[in-house]
Amino acid sequence: MIQIWNMIKYMLTDRKLQKEVKKRYYHDHSFSHLDRALLTAYIFKNPYTISKNYLKNRNDKEIHTYGETPLMTYEKIAQESELEPTDTFLELGSGRGRGAFFLYHFFNCRVIGIERISQFVKLSRHLSHKYHQERVTFICGDVLKEELPEATVIYLYGTALPDQEITLLVQKLKRYPKRTKIISISYPLTDYDENAFQIEKTFPVSFLWGETEAYIQKVCHRE
Ligand SMILES: C[S@@+](CC[C@H](N)C(=O)[O-])C[C@H]1O[C@@H](n2cnc3c(N)ncnc32)[C@H](O)[C@@H]1O
Repeated sequence: MIQIWNMIKYMLTDRKLQKEVKKRYYHDHSFSHLDRALLTAYIFKNPYTISKNYLKNRNDKEIHTYGETPLMTYEKIAQESELEPTDTFLELGSGRGRGAFFLYHFFNCRVIGIERISQFVKLSRHLSHKYHQERVTFICGDVLKEELPEATVIYLYGTALPDQEITLLVQKLKRYPKRTKIISISYPLTDYDENAFQIEKTFPVSFLWGETEAYIQKVCHRE
C-alpha cells in the first residue's frame, strides 16, 4: 500500500517537474525537439524498468536504484560549478543521457557520459547522431573498470551506490589533476578520503524524492 502511494506521489511530482521543464526550456525549439524525442523514445520502455531488469539479470540485491536528476537541478549544478564552454563535463552513470544533452545545449560544454546499461547508451548515441550533438558522447562501460576520460568537471549522482563501490571510484577520481571539480549528491567524497579532496561549496538541490545537498569538491592531492 505504501509502495503504491509512493508511486502515485512520484508520478504526480514527475508531471509537475515536466510542466516546469516545458515552461523554462521548451521556448528553445531545438532543445524542445530533442528532449521530446528522448522522452518519446522511452514511452514504451520505462527507464526504471530497464534498469531494474538489468540489475535483476546481474542478481544484484538492490534493484530499485535508478533515478534521474531533474533538469532544473542540472541547471543549478551547472551554475554553482560555473560550467563554461571550455569545460568537459563527465557524467558517471549517465542513465538516459537527458542531462548530458541539456548541459551541452544550454552551457555549450563538451559532455561525456559513461553508462553500463547498453540499451541507454544505444539510444543516447542514436539521438546524439540524429540531432548533431557532436560534443555529447557516450561510453558504454563500467565506471569502476573503464579508464576514465579527461574532464574538468565530474558529476556523480550515486546515492544508491554501495560504500565499497564509492571507495573504488574515489581511488580513480583522486588521480585527476588538481582542481578538477567533482560534484556529488548527498555525501561529500571527503567522507571516503579526506586528504584527496577539498570541499568548495555545498548547496541544496531537489530530486523527485525530495531535497538533499550537493557538494562541489576539488581534487587537491594533499597527502
Ligand atoms: C541514479 S542513476 C543517475 C542517472 C543520471 N546520472 C542522472 O542523474 O539523471 C545512476 C546511473 O548510473 C548507472 N551506473 C551505476 N553503476 C555504474 C557503473 N559501475 N558503471 C556505469 N554506470 C553505472 C546506472 O545504470 C544508472 O543509469
